[in-house]
Amino acid sequence: MLISVLIIGASGAFGRPLLHEFIHQISSFKTIAVLASNQQKAESYAWAGGKGVKIVVGSFLDSKSYEGFTHVISVVGNPLLRLQPAMIEAAFASGVTHFYPSEWNSDISQREIYSLRYFRDKQVTHSHLAAVAKTHPGFKYTIFITGIFTEWAVGELYGFDHEANKVLVYGRPDGRVGVTSIPDIARFTVSSLLLPFQATTTSGSERTLRVQGSKSTFQGLVDALGAARGVKYAVQYLDPAEAKEREEQARVEGDEEAEIMWSIRPLIASGFGVADGEGRELDNGLFDFRAETMEETFKRVYG
Ligand SMILES: NC(=O)c1ccc[n+]([C@@H]2O[C@H](COP(=O)([O-])OP(=O)(O)OC[C@H]3O[C@@H](n4cnc5c(N)ncnc54)[C@H](OP(=O)(O)O)[C@@H]3O)[C@@H](O)[C@H]2O)c1
Repeated sequence: MLISVLIIGASGAFGRPLLHEFIHQISSFKTIAVLASNQQKAESYAWAGGKGVKIVVGSFLDSKSYEGFTHVISVVGNPLLRLQPAMIEAAFASGVTHFYPSEWNSDISQREIYSLRYFRDKQVTHSHLAAVAKTHPGFKYTIFITGIFTEWAVGELYGFDHEANKVLVYGRPDGRVGVTSIPDIARFTVSSLLLPFQATTTSGSERTLRVQGSKSTFQGLVDALGAARGVKYAVQYLDPAEAKEREEQARVEGDEEAEIMWSIRPLIASGFGVADGEGRELDNGLFDFRAETMEETFKRVYG
C-alpha cells in the first residue's frame, strides 16, 4: 500500500522526534508531509523540506489541507486536543482513511483514570472516531498507548528537583509505572504505519497498540535514575487528595492550564500510569526492535 502521511503539530515536543524518525524511514512512504499554519511556520520546516518532507500550508480545520493524504497523525498539544473532532471531520471529507489522534499516554481506558480532567479531550476524540468509523466503513484509526515518556517521567511536573536531588510526589512508592523513551515511541509509531492493520475491537475499525520500555514501582524508577546519576534522591510522598483539591481550586478560578496540570501530577505514582493496564498484553512483539529500558534511557540522558 502506498502511504501518504500528513503530520499535524510536527514542531512540538514529541512532533520533532517523530518527524526525525519519519525522515529516517522516508523511503518506506509515498509522501511524508507536515502541516504549517502559515508561511513563517512553513519556513521553519525548510530543513525538513531539504530531506524530502512536503510542507503543506493551511489550516487543520480546512479539508483542502488533507487532499491526497491517506493517513493523518495528530501530535497536537493540550490546548488543541479539543479541536481534534473537527480535524477528523475535515480529514475524512478529503478522503483520509486512517487517523492517529494525539495520544501516546497511559492506558486511559482504566477505570481509575478514565475520567481524569487531563484526558477529557482525548476521551471525546475516541468517541468521535468511533462514531465516524461506525457510519463510514473503511475509515480506521489507531490509538497509541506508551505509558509515560521516560524522559518526562522524571521532570519538574512530577516533582523532581535534580539540583537538590529531591522528589515531592503525590502517590505511593509501590505504585506501578510504565515508561517508554521518546526515540522509541517515535520509532514504534512510524513503524506501526507499515504493519498490516489488525483491528483490536469488534467494530473492525479501531486498532489500539500498547508498547512499553520498562515497568517498575515509582520508587524503583527514582532509584534507577539515582543509579544513573550516581546520587540518592530523597522522596517525599504526598496525599493525592491535596492535588485533587488544588485542581478543583484552579477549576473554580477558571485557570484551565493549572486545572489540567494538577489533574495529571498524581498519575505517576498512582499505579495507573502504565500502558498495560488491567493486565492487558503489550504489542512490543509486533516490532522488530527492542525498546530501551529506563536504566538505558537514564544512562543515555543523565549519565
Ligand atoms: N505520556 C507522556 O508522558 C507524554 C509526554 C509528552 C507528550 N505526550 C503526548 O504527546 C502528544 C503531543 O504532545 P507535545 O507535548 O508534543 O505537544 P506540544 O509540544 O505542546 O504541542 C504540539 C504542537 O501542537 C500545536 N499547538 C499546541 N498549542 C497550540 C496552540 N495554542 N495554537 C496552535 N498550535 C498549537 C503546535 O503545532 P505546530 O507545529 O503545527 O505549530 C505544537 O507544535 C500529546 O497527546 C501529549 O499528551 C505524552
